[in-house]
Formats: sequence, structure tokens, C-alpha cells
Amino acid sequence: MTAQLNPRGDVAVLVPAAGAGVRLGPGRPKALRLLAGEPLLVHAVRRLAAAPSVHTIVVAAPAAEVTAVRELLAPVAPVTVVPGGAERQASVAAALAAVPAGPTIILVHDAARALTPAELVESVAAAVRSGRDAVIPVLPVVDTIKEVGAGEVVLGTVDRSALRAVQTPQGFRRAVLTAAHAAAGDPLTDDAGLVEKQGITVSCVPGSEYALKITRPFDLALAEHLLAAGG
Ligand code: C5P
Repeated sequence: MTAQLNPRGDVAVLVPAAGAGVRLGPGRPKALRLLAGEPLLVHAVRRLAAAPSVHTIVVAAPAAEVTAVRELLAPVAPVTVVPGGAERQASVAAALAAVPAGPTIILVHDAARALTPAELVESVAAAVRSGRDAVIPVLPVVDTIKEVGAGEVVLGTVDRSALRAVQTPQGFRRAVLTAAHAAAGDPLTDDAGLVEKQGITVSCVPGSEYALKITRPFDLALAEHLLAAGG
């Protein structure tokens, strides 16, 4: 049976958490690395569970860690845990298959964005509820971006004003995400990319600095500081 949070909520959140986290250095799967003494996944799920629209959370865990992740999350929130796949996209598909009847909005949220505030979850869900097919949280790009070729030689400078850095949670009408995954080809790094391939319009809402993706040791140190400062 699928565990439920708010039975009147209309949102299911899929949490791909099956990655190895190679860029963080050697150690446990990334979602289980500690941030201020607790796994990243615990921080992420606690914030998702605090969003009033969330009906169901499905976590895709590393296959060898499913039981451990179930035990870890049991005291945090009622969560369904399934084994993830070899690629992020396969992990999302596995979680999507476990969503019960009911929720009409699906959010996909990386466990690595452990400090994402519940307010961002609600703003993405609200944009889908207001009639958008697909919604992504974005931030402006602050660095100048260059395209680089062989030998690290600059080929050109990209117009920064048209670029956005994309975060999660990404939100979709349930039928839109289900159709995009059914038609999916080569793995992409986000779900909006699959939906774009279907010719569906993807809309942006303002992201949050707190939704940073904890990828490298510096990100983990930054997240520790943000938490210590009350983030
Ligand atoms: O690899 P990357 O850092 O882009 O992963 C983004 C998210 O996708 C992470 O939360 C990671 O745990 C998850 N992932 C997954 N299954 C994989 C690879 C990554 O659930 N096979």
C-alpha cells in the first residue's frame, strides 16, 4: 500500500535518490551522505512533507539500500520507497509507476537539493494547478558563459540574458509526465527535457538559492553553513 501524507493534497512528489554521488568523493550513495548529522534525503523529505499540497512522496533509492531507506524515512514522513535504476530517468520512471490513483500533479525533485523550501514546492504546484502543463524553477545565470572546444580553446560567448539555471522540483500535469516517460528515448538529465521533446510548453517560475544541488564537497560545506544560519 502507498503511504499518504495529506489525503486532500493533489501532488505526488517523486524523489530520485539512487545516484552514487561520485563528484562528492568516495563514500555512501549521495542521498545518504550526512549534512549536519542527517542524510541529505532526510532533509529533502522533511521539507517536502511540510508542503500542504503533498499527498504522496515516492523515493527511488539505490537498489541495495531500499530497506535501509525505508527505516531511515519512517520517522520522518509516510513515504513509499522503490528501487531506482541505472540512470536518473529510470529512477524517476520507477517512482512514477508507484504513484497511486488520486494526485493530478506530479513533481520530480532531486534528493541532492536537500534544503529546498516547502514554499518552492507550493509555488511550482500552484503554477501547474493554474493550468500549465510543465513548470520549472529557475535562477538567472550570474557567470559569463563561454562555449569551449578541443584543447580548452574558447569558441564563443553565449548571451547570458537568455540563459537560466534550472532547479527542481519540476512540476507536471500527471498525464503529461506519464506520456513523456512512456515515449522517452536516450536518458536526459531532467524531466522537463522529456516533455520539451513532446512539443509541450515548459514554463518558468522563480527558483530559490536554497534549492542548490549538493554535488561537490564545497556545496556540502555551503549547505552546512546555510543550515547553521537557520536556512
Ligand atoms: O547525478 P545527478 O547529481 O545529476 O543526480 C541528480 C539526482 O538523481 C540525485 O538526487 C540522484 O540521487 C538521482 N539519481 C537517481 N538514479 C540514478 C542517478 C541519479 O535517482 N541512477
